[in-house]
Amino acid sequence: ALWLLTSQDLAGEHLLVTAGPTRERIDPVRYLSNDSSGLMGYALARAARQRGAQVTLVSGPTALPAPLGVNLRRVESAAQMLDAVLATLPAATLVIKAAAVADYRPCQMAAQKLKKQQMAAPSLALEKTPDILSQIAACKGDRLVVGFAAETERLLEHARDKLERKGLDLIVANDVTQAGAGFECATNIVQILHADGRCEALPCLTKWAVAHALLDRLVALRCQRAV
Ligand code: CTP
Ligand code: CA
Repeated sequence: ALWLLTSQDLAGEHLLVTAGPTRERIDPVRYLSNDSSGLMGYALARAARQRGAQVTLVSGPTALPAPLGVNLRRVESAAQMLDAVLATLPAATLVIKAAAVADYRPCQMAAQKLKKQQMAAPSLALEKTPDILSQIAACKGDRLVVGFAAETERLLEHARDKLERKGLDLIVANDVTQAGAGFECATNIVQILHADGRCEALPCLTKWAVAHALLDRLVALRCQRAV
């Protein structure tokens, strides 16, 4: 068993990690969503499990198999993800929000499939979804809370702003326009921003390696707090 060879430096921690996209229903057969594959969040769940953490993975729809030894809760919408996260939060000591939560949802879901013969091009009235990460950070207590920021421009500025606005300990910033980074890709090129102002640029790594690098930072932050 691989865990015999892996340091159990997350023993005693309970990681709550979110992964994948959310789907916001327009009607029973249509939705708004995004390109997130869930790879990053699932890699984090497996890596943390391997290092001895108890893990709850709240996942939007993905094509990935359930990681062994992980408590998997499947959800569809941002509202469902918020409910699942809030239900697990009291037990969690670490929270990583790798999910690509849809920012907007239709104000109303049509009960029946929209029929094109019955209307000209419809306009979709949208409203904001709840910001799950901001809600978590607002009552974080001793938890370490990590967010992701996928950007297409002014990466560090936007990521630093999100870290401060959402009250995070770390934010993982990546430029999704770069080759070898972002959605649907097995590798990622990230920079890890710390609340104390530090910024570390990592080379192009597999998402598995990014997961371990991020968990290393959380272990270090824990040690720092303990002294
Ligand atoms: N997030 C969240 N709930 C939302 C939107 C985002 O929890 N409704 C989390 C994501 O999981 C991610 C972080 O917030 O960890 C940043 O997400 P991102 O989409 O980059 O930031 P937004 O605040 O949504 O801003 P924008 O999309 O406008 O850049
Ligand atoms: Ca967003």
